[in-house]
Order: sequence, then structure tokens, then C-alpha cells
Amino acid sequence: MPEGPAAAAGAQPVVVGDPAQLRAITHTWRCQGARIGLVPTMGAIHEGHLSLVAAARGQCQKVIVSTFVNPLQFGPGEDFTRYPRRPDQDRELLRRAGVDAIYAPSQDSLYPPSFATKVTVDMEGLSRFEGAARPGHFQGVATVVAKLFGAVGPCLAFFGEKDAQQVALVRRLAADLDQGVEVHECPTVREADGLAMSSRNEYLGEEARRSAVGLSGWLRLAQQLFRGGERRATAYRKLAEATVARDPGVTLEYADVVDPSDFSAIDTVDQGSRLLIAARVGGVRLIDTALLGSASLD
Ligand code: PAJ
Repeated sequence: MPEGPAAAAGAQPVVVGDPAQLRAITHTWRCQGARIGLVPTMGAIHEGHLSLVAAARGQCQKVIVSTFVNPLQFGPGEDFTRYPRRPDQDRELLRRAGVDAIYAPSQDSLYPPSFATKVTVDMEGLSRFEGAARPGHFQGVATVVAKLFGAVGPCLAFFGEKDAQQVALVRRLAADLDQGVEVHECPTVREADGLAMSSRNEYLGEEARRSAVGLSGWLRLAQQLFRGGERRATAYRKLAEATVARDPGVTLEYADVVDPSDFSAIDTVDQGSRLLIAARVGGVRLIDTALLGSASLD
């Protein structure tokens, strides 16, 4: 198989539900010398997901997108049952994007009644922020990602910076479990007004949609504060209290600046420190992030 990007978009991707069948397909591709790229998603494909597919197509001859909505990473009372599921639309979007295969297993084939293995990535940084807000979430993510890597055997896997703690988890897991997978982090794709694209944005009513821009608004204001010379971490938290949290439609969960390597607290911020924010807007939980000094929101 020649070096270089995947074939032109257009052919119908093969849809695979069975892990053994998927392994047989990827085995053939590997024997042909193809570099296989995996883009794990939970379906409800949007432009953010498609940017990961584009990155994968740029570096791999074969691209697989998984669309499994993983029950293990949802807590009790979270939105597992109402999470958007639209396989036909996903398939069409992924066909146009030039994906070779869609991995869409059933819950039973991934988690049969005998299933007993849970993967825990025991990293201090994962106990904070999303780890603290969503107990068990990262164990669910680690377990499904280990299974996806096992079934696909990709050379490369593509994840979004938007879920920065998830990227740190996947990098650790890939290294610690000798998965032989290169993990690529891709920039956040945003709506015109700055809101980070997310499958959950469609839950937002009109008013909540207007309030939701407050999260990226804080990221932007924080970048301005940094350019103005402010280096005290407390000033960035106060900025969130004085802006986003003032909107009665928003319940701020956290807004902080941390060490990007381990999500630990810092007193003094620097170029490359990570901004993190989570809030409930009209009953919908949203997160966003950016590195201080990056131009991504300008
Ligand atoms: P999901 O929320 O569907 O996201 C799939 C991938 O798309 C993740 O790597 C996420 O960070 C990335 N992504 C989401 N919104 C994005 C945006 N606006 N710009 C760029 N990338 C974006 O994350 C998950 O699913 C699951 O936890 C999963 C890894 C699939 C495991 O079940």
C-alpha cells in the first residue's frame, strides 16, 4: 500500500458491529502495509469530530471512526438514555468525510454479562475537575478506549483538546499498557460565537444557547487578562465569578488555571498554563479549555 493520506472521500464506509470481524478487517489492512487511524466518538457526529477525521486522513491510509455510546462513562442520573443517537446521519457525514469503516458495536457485544474488567488510570490529575465532578467517568473512558485500541490495533488515535483530561488519560493508558498507539491531540472546533462544538449543545434551548457562550467568553477574557500582564491565578478565578457566574442562566462548577502537565493547582500563571471551565447552562453540563497565550480564541 502506498504511503500518504487515505483514498478520496465518497465510498460507503463498511459498518462493523462485531469486534472479531473488525479485527479481521484491520489485520488485512495491516498486512497490506496501511497505517490505521482511529477516531473514537460517541456518534452524533459534528464538525469537531470531522476535524479529527480530517487529521486522521492526513496521516493514515485507513481511518476508522467508532460511534459506540459507552454506558460505563455515564454516572447515574446523567444523560446516557437521552444521548443523541442518529446512525444514518452519522454514516452519511462520515462517508462524505472519507472514512473507511465505522465501528458501531452493540452494548452486548462490548459488555456481555460475563464482562468483568475495568481499567483504572491512577493519575493524580484525573481526580480533579472532571474526575471529581463525575465519579467513575474516567474509569469508563479508560475501559472503552482500551477495548477500542484492542479491537482496532491502530497506529494513531485522534482526540480533541476540548477534553484535555481525557487526552492525558489516553496518553498514560497507551504508554502504560504498551498499546503502540500514537495519540494525537486536535484543536477545539468552535461555533462562530466561540461556543465549543459538542453533541450536548443540541440540548440547549434558545436562552441557554445564548448563555452558553459565557464559557468561551471567559477563556477569551482570560487571554486578554494574561496579555495585560496579570499573573495571579486567583485573578482568573475571580474573573469567572464576576462574568460567567453573574449570568442567572449559568451555574458555574469550576473555572481555574492549572499546570498543563498534571492539572495541579498553581499560584502564578504562565504562558501555556491551562484554563479549565465547567458549568451547567439550562440544565446542560458544558466544559471548555484553552492554553494561556494560545491564539485559538482570537
Ligand atoms: P465524544 O464526546 O463523542 O468526542 C469524541 C472526540 O471528539 C473526543 O476526542 C473529543 O475531545 C472530540 N471533540 C469533541 N468536541 C470537539 C470539538 N468541538 N473540537 C474538536 N474535537 C472535539 O469523548 C468522547 O466522545 C468519549 O469519551 C470517547 C473518547 C469516544 C470514549 O467513549
